[in-house]
Amino acid sequence: MAIQAKIQTSVQPLTDFALQDWDLGGEHPAVIVHDVASRPRPHGHVIVFANEKGGVGKSTLAFHTAMAMCDAGKKVAVIDLDHGQATLSGALSNREATCRLLKIGLPTPRYVAVSQPSGACLSQEIARIGSDCNYVLIDVAGSDSPIARRAIAMADTLVTPINSSFADIELLGQFDATTMRLKRLGRFARLVSALRGARVERRMAAADWIVIPNRIRRSGSNNETMIGDALERLSQIAGFRIGQGLGERVAYRELFLFGLTHLDLKRIPKLARVKATAKHEIEQLLADLQLSAVGDDQADLFEPHPSENLWIEERPLSLTA
Ligand SMILES: Nc1ncnc2c1ncn2[C@@H]1O[C@H](COP(=O)(O)OP(=O)(O)OP(=O)(O)O)[C@@H](O)[C@H]1O
Ligand SMILES: [Mg+2]
Repeated sequence: MAIQAKIQTSVQPLTDFALQDWDLGGEHPAVIVHDVASRPRPHGHVIVFANEKGGVGKSTLAFHTAMAMCDAGKKVAVIDLDHGQATLSGALSNREATCRLLKIGLPTPRYVAVSQPSGACLSQEIARIGSDCNYVLIDVAGSDSPIARRAIAMADTLVTPINSSFADIELLGQFDATTMRLKRLGRFARLVSALRGARVERRMAAADWIVIPNRIRRSGSNNETMIGDALERLSQIAGFRIGQGLGERVAYRELFLFGLTHLDLKRIPKLARVKATAKHEIEQLLADLQLSAVGDDQADLFEPHPSENLWIEERPLSLTA
């Protein structure tokens, strides 16, 4: 029997999700959206990287997205809401250290790690570093919190990376292990849906929600096919788009340590560069965000260029001054 046929749905479409059914505890979505709407909005497009599941690649994707935008000449502000781990702001600080070590200049976004998790502080920091930026990127910690909810409520585009296991998509949707029946939407999908619904009730546009499979292994296993089908089904009910995704690559980890991406290699002749494919994946990620649909005046910069396939070898990097 085809896997697609095994996936049955008995949950209500999220268009029917009523705010009075709010079952996740904490502040009500309407209160959160009211708070967000009452504060000044940045001029630029707000892209939020969020998933209650930890370690799925939020900071990695936010980093590569920010770097690709800077490389394309955009003004970008990065807000790190994970003050404890400070993964993203740490990588950007490493980037500055790399520049000092190599005595070079690299395009770098403005960035800040928000230490006080309140709506007022978030709004204040966005205004301080992002008021004239084309894009404001917010990296959210991997857990539910009032500040995470505010960031999601603020998103024009919401990016949710996931790894390809049923344990990871549990927060989007819960499936019966034997029948593959979708039992109910996961708590993160319900949270996002409720916040999007609360925005629409205030006549604000709902966030464009895109789920990005991350650390894909091209094995073509039965499990990956089942995950793909499950995601497809969920996307129709929860109202998200699915991006092509990023493969499992050593380079994403290695370059991150130095605050670098493949796009910097053309500016650093000392680094080895040989063929690989991650550059195209990041271009595809930017294209999948479909920023042209929300008013980027130079959206063609984010089209993928598959013919230009410059990349580094999948081996550890070393830097010397
Ligand atoms: N495509 C990839 N290929 C290889 N390694 C990856 C990839 N994406 C992320 N990683 C690695 O996975 C780990 C977790 O990634 P990351 O810190 O971006 O996740 P996160 O969702 O931000 O985590 P947290 O919830 O803790 O904030 C890191 O070690 C990162 O280098
Ligand atoms: Mg993170």
